[in-house]
Amino acid sequence: MTNRIDRIDHVGIVCRDLDEAIQFYRSVYGFELCHVEVIESQGVREAVMRIGDPADEGAPYVQLLEPVRPDSAVSAWLDRRGPGLHHVAFGTGDVGAAADDLRGQGIPPIIDPPGIGPRGARVTFLHPRDCLGVLTELVEPPSFGAPAAGADPSAR
Ligand code: CO
Repeated sequence: MTNRIDRIDHVGIVCRDLDEAIQFYRSVYGFELCHVEVIESQGVREAVMRIGDPADEGAPYVQLLEPVRPDSAVSAWLDRRGPGLHHVAFGTGDVGAAADDLRGQGIPPIIDPPGIGPRGARVTFLHPRDCLGVLTELVEPPSFGAPAAGADPSAR
């Protein structure tokens, strides 16, 4: 059992209409929209809504995903299963080491070695068939271990 995974980074939710989903999470829960980006390689438009302080880049968030191409994996998911929870992403300080641990337990990472995800994070995924039906993402944020936002690196 690994102790390298120590928090929930985000949950990924697939929607048909990103703007409608943003409005839902804003009005119902009060989450603030931090970021919207088209990720061409995945064929999705993504919105990040932090839970808690939107300026805290370490805060967990809801990742809303809307397909922008009919041939994308998320589009196929939406056709097959409808909108809803798509994946859970656990945070780690070392995604390579976490992936090694899991591989050693017979759970091979889908992206191996881990790749670069949105906003420079290092990420990989674990297949639902290996994880009790849950598509699982592992995330090492780019800022992990770096000075907090606003900190003066020259003062260290
Ligand atoms: Co994700």
